[in-house]
Order: sequence, then structure tokens, then C-alpha cells
Amino acid sequence: MNIILMGLPGAGKGTQAERIVKEFDIPHISTGDMFRAAVKNETPLGLKAKSYMDQGQLVPDEVVIGIVRERLAMEDCEKGFLLDGFPRTVPQAEALTATVKELGREIDHVININVRRELLIDRLTGRWICPVCGASYHTMFNPPKEAGICDKDGGKLYQRDDDKLEVVSQRLDVNIAQTQLLIDYYTEQGLLRSIDGEQDIQVVFEEIKSLLRG
Ligand code: AP5
Ligand code: MG
Ligand code: ZN
Repeated sequence: MNIILMGLPGAGKGTQAERIVKEFDIPHISTGDMFRAAVKNETPLGLKAKSYMDQGQLVPDEVVIGIVRERLAMEDCEKGFLLDGFPRTVPQAEALTATVKELGREIDHVININVRRELLIDRLTGRWICPVCGASYHTMFNPPKEAGICDKDGGKLYQRDDDKLEVVSQRLDVNIAQTQLLIDYYTEQGLLRSIDGEQDIQVVFEEIKSLLRG
């Protein structure tokens, strides 16, 4: 199953992706996670991406398209994949359509997680992440059992640099401007399905599962 998970920053892409890939046993491809790993390792890709990410801007299309194309050609994607945070612009979506076709595959599902902007600021500024397994927690909406510690592996939770209030607002504006165009693109292809992402994490997951199985 080849899936695209769309949604504004903080909509719950990572939170749901973690559950979906476990359920369907497919790789989780998050361009944001790939860039953060590159920044941490100070690779040429990381150096290129860092200034855009720090300012809440999108990394240029040609850079993002290149890394996704390479990733999708890897063997583990033959059984399916879940894209989280890609595509984010129409040129990225067009490049993805072409790449998938070259690989002799097609996109089966595009799921858009809808959440109002007002709620997203609180979600992002209260988010804490595990450096070991990548799980997202929230001080109010999804707290770990012990404050600051991952439930699964005891990792010491941290906050993302781009979750600072000034950057969050910029990220939301940049993404809102692009999202409607993408919604139009996938609606025209008859692939887009929307989910109410303001519900409980588990309820959102149940709805996604039934869309994917339906
Ligand atoms: P990326 O890492 O993808 O960030 P983002 O799109 O801003 O999305 P987030 O990861 O912040 O949110 P999420 O939807 O995963 O939410 P989460 O599940 O964590 O990208 C980072 C940067 O990389 C971009 O700004 C850009 O610079 C660059 N980049 C990446 N991809 C790119 C591309 N394709 N093109 C160009 N540039 C690109 O949840 C958020 C919080 O809410 C958590 O605390 C969670 O516990 C909580 N929560 C989740 N669901 C619920 C719920 N149902 N109810 C209550 N709380 C909830
Ligand atoms: Mg994420
Ligand atoms: Zn963890």
C-alpha cells in the first residue's frame, strides 16, 4: 500500500504515521525527519536544509524531490510506503507522480488530516519528542507517564528548534499557502480523503485505518 499523509504542521502526521506503519508494516518516510537527521550529522544536505528549516520556510523543491526519489527506489519500499510531509508543493506532487510511475507503481491513498490553525500553535509549542524512537508527546494532550521521559525506551525528551513560537507561526503561514493547491491537485486525481484531526489520537487512527481498508 502506497500512502501519502498530508496535514499542516502539528496536524498529527508523525503521530498517526507511527501507528499506520506498525499496523501495515511499511516504511515511514518523513522528509522532515530525514532533514533533521542530516542537520544533526552536519552532512551537505543538512547544511543546505538548516537555514530554511530554522526560518520555517520550505526547503527548495529540487532538494526534497532528489532525496525522496532516492528513498523510494530502495528495496524496502517495494512492499509499500507511507510518505509524511511530502509532497508539500504542486511541483513536488508532479515529480512524485512521475517517480512512482517510473517505478511501475501508483499512489493508493492520499489522506489529509484537518485541524484548525488556532489549535496547531498549542500542539506545536507543547510538543516533546523522543530522540531514541522519534515518538511525539504533548505536555497536555499526550503526556508521557513520567514527565520528560519516553514511555517506550526511557529516552530524554527534547523540543524541536522550529517549535519556538516565532517560527511556528511562519511555518503555518507558509504551509497554509501551499496546502490548498495540493488539495486541489489530489482532488482532481480522485485520491484525496480528509479526516477530522481534532478528535482523539486513537479515534483519528481508527478512521484512517477504516479508510485504508475500505
Ligand atoms: P516536518 O518535520 O514535516 O514538520 P511539519 O510539517 O511542520 O509537521 P510537524 O512534524 O511539526 O507536525 P506533525 O503533523 O507531524 O504533528 P505531530 O504528530 O508531531 O518538516 C520540518 C521542516 O522540514 C519544514 O518546515 C521544512 O523546512 C522542511 N521540509 C520537510 N518536508 C518538506 C517538503 N516536502 N518540502 C519542503 N520542505 C520540507 O503532532 C504535533 C503535536 O500534537 C504532538 O505533541 C502530538 O502529541 C500532538 N497531537 C497529535 N495528534 C493529536 C490529537 N489528535 N489530539 C491532540 N494532540 C495531538
Ligand atoms: Mg512530523
Ligand atoms: Zn522513545
